[in-house]
Amino acid sequence: MSFSDYRTALVTGASAGMGTALVERLCAEGLTVHALARRADRLDELAARTGCIPHAVDITDTEALKAAVEGLEIDVLINNAGVGRAGNITTMDEFGVDELIDLNLRAVLHITRLLLPGMLERDRGHIVNIGSMAGQYNFGGNTVYHATKAAIRMLSQQLRIDVNGKRVRITEFSPGRVETEIFDRNHGMSKDEARQHWYEGYEIPGPADVADAIAYVINLPSHITIGHMEMMSTFQAPGGLSIVKTAK
Ligand SMILES: NC(=O)c1ccc[n+]([C@@H]2O[C@H](COP(=O)([O-])OP(=O)(O)OC[C@H]3O[C@@H](n4cnc5c(N)ncnc54)[C@H](OP(=O)(O)O)[C@@H]3O)[C@@H](O)[C@H]2O)c1
Repeated sequence: MSFSDYRTALVTGASAGMGTALVERLCAEGLTVHALARRADRLDELAARTGCIPHAVDITDTEALKAAVEGLEIDVLINNAGVGRAGNITTMDEFGVDELIDLNLRAVLHITRLLLPGMLERDRGHIVNIGSMAGQYNFGGNTVYHATKAAIRMLSQQLRIDVNGKRVRITEFSPGRVETEIFDRNHGMSKDEARQHWYEGYEIPGPADVADAIAYVINLPSHITIGHMEMMSTFQAPGGLSIVKTAK
């Protein structure tokens, strides 16, 4: 199976960052790409540029999501839409908990539930779940985000059991820091502030690097699955030891 065997794709979170780059790449490979996000103006601009099919939808609204994907035969599903929030569980408000669970996990489960049966029936498909290094490692802050991304990790592994015996592949893609819009949103910063704080002076991957890596994974022969791929700046390393000294 390679791009030439797939005809259709669906990318969530297509109006920014990695999602936009993935739509651009999949369209360039000749697939009919359905692009989902809330901001219609951005999707329209993307559609004009790439030929993708825009769907302005809040994917946490399950009825709206169902209506958007109803009847679609999707070969490549990229569960990309996600949000983060600064702070740990002691500082997170009710909205923050619900938003992260609803988008990063609940919407992924629903869209997978809706589209995977068709892939199994057609014996053709690939689901790429965008996780995070936060789903693999613990580090300071963002407790709820870590929890949702750890769920994506186990979901991706479990899906491989669910589809075993069919020509349907499951990949979890776990990025470290990538230059997108996520940090502006997480920290309520302007684009400029976020760039200065999170990106300037760092050699980190961009959305096109992510799209290249995912394109490689999709383009492998159908008897090969890359189950998990982690992408990070060479200058970013997870791990470390946290210990607090309590006596002088
Ligand atoms: N950037 C990083 O450093 C990094 C690192 C690790 C993992 N990730 C993960 O990578 C994925 C992509 O993130 P990104 O960095 O590209 O983020 P981004 O630039 O902030 O883009 C997020 C996308 O999600 C969409 N979205 C948000 N809420 C939505 C909703 N309710 N319904 C539909 N779409 C919604 C946004 O579009 P609208 O606002 O128009 O709806 C936007 O297109 C996420 O799952 C994120 O957790 C990112």
